[in-house]
Amino acid sequence: AKSLPLRNKKILITAGPTYEAIDPVRFIGNHSSGKMGYALAESAAKAGAKVILISGPTHLQHPGFGIELIRVQSAQQMYDAANTHFDEMDAAIASAAVSDYRPKNVAAQKIKKNSVNLTLELERNPDILASLGKRKKDQVLVGFALETENERKNALGKLERKSLDFIVLNSLNDEGAGFQKDTNKICILFKSGIKKDFPLKSKKEVSKDIINELTLLLNE
Ligand code: PMT
Repeated sequence: AKSLPLRNKKILITAGPTYEAIDPVRFIGNHSSGKMGYALAESAAKAGAKVILISGPTHLQHPGFGIELIRVQSAQQMYDAANTHFDEMDAAIASAAVSDYRPKNVAAQKIKKNSVNLTLELERNPDILASLGKRKKDQVLVGFALETENERKNALGKLERKSLDFIVLNSLNDEGAGFQKDTNKICILFKSGIKKDFPLKSKKEVSKDIINELTLLLNE
């Protein structure tokens, strides 16, 4: 029989982009497809976990048995859903590409093109992962860092600031890594100072590596 190393564990996963409304027809978004987060949800469920997957807008199918899918649009909605469920979780993995800013005012009607230039005022969104870091008791908390420069330094800063147990670094400088693709190349940086580099793999295989590391920490 197959062993289920995450049986009886509850894991919250954020995935995909967020859409920040400008007016009824437009938004600020990003290139996240949700593939990395949905692969994580599937791998965690296959290892026996009960998964809550909080997903921004994607074209992906429900990833299957053992996964409660909560669909949201905005960072604020993702923040609310994550904070509603976190206290009952054993672990959380934040793989969503959350918009750091949102339009300060959402126009009630479609904005007309009356002028040559248009200025949008933006305000900060709440940081979902940092809020879970503040809230955490004995949960294992995992974040992602998507970087374009000073990769390790920036990732270590996020590990520290958001009270993470480990952070998964992917760099847009690595061929085959990051948004939309079916592959990723990651480096995991642990709170303990240990670093593990992984070769380029499919997101399904990458998700298994991440779930393995999470399982080791949960069973410590
Ligand atoms: O969806 P795919 O197309 O498969 O692409 C996968 C991915 C590239 C989106 C994924 O692998 C990834 O790197 N996700 C994190 C992207 C990101 O926004 O990283 P960041 O460095 O800006 O944020 C750091 C961490 O804080 C992340 O865990 C993020 O989820 C979290 N965060 C950030 C801002 C915010 N307001 N709330 C958050 O929770």
